[in-house]
Amino acid sequence: MASDAVTLIMNDHRIMEQLFERLEAAEGDLQVLLDECAARLTAHSHAEEQKVYPVLAELDEQARQDAHHGADEHHDAERLLHDLQRISPEGPDFFDRLENFIATVRRHVEHEETVLLPALRASLTLERLEEMGAAFQEVRAAELAVAGIRV
Ligand SMILES: [Fe+2]
Ligand SMILES: [Fe+2]
Repeated sequence: MASDAVTLIMNDHRIMEQLFERLEAAEGDLQVLLDECAARLTAHSHAEEQKVYPVLAELDEQARQDAHHGADEHHDAERLLHDLQRISPEGPDFFDRLENFIATVRRHVEHEETVLLPALRASLTLERLEEMGAAFQEVRAAELAVAGIRV
């Protein structure tokens, strides 16, 4: 199985997307789904910020700005999700706020997959991408373990 950083990040995006679809369909306990979403989102974001964005930032000035902007988008998404966790799923604006959160993450993921990750793939050797993948996975797995989620 491929273990380069780009593939691992994109696989994780697909897991998040499945969670979003279950939330949108109100499939199961929404609070439980939101908690899993929060654990996965923070583990993924921290692993990117610690192990991937710093490498991206060294490519060129545009990539440096993109990495900075990407970290801001992580914080926006975490704030929206945190707010969502504090309101009742029965409340009148829950699904509007859920859609706002999901749309924010989807825009970020699309930007990563069309701009940031292709830039990494074009600039780094496969060996370097695999080293980065292992580092990404280590941070991610450690954070998920704390949250009690099996990788
Ligand atoms: Fe990502
Ligand atoms: Fe990200």
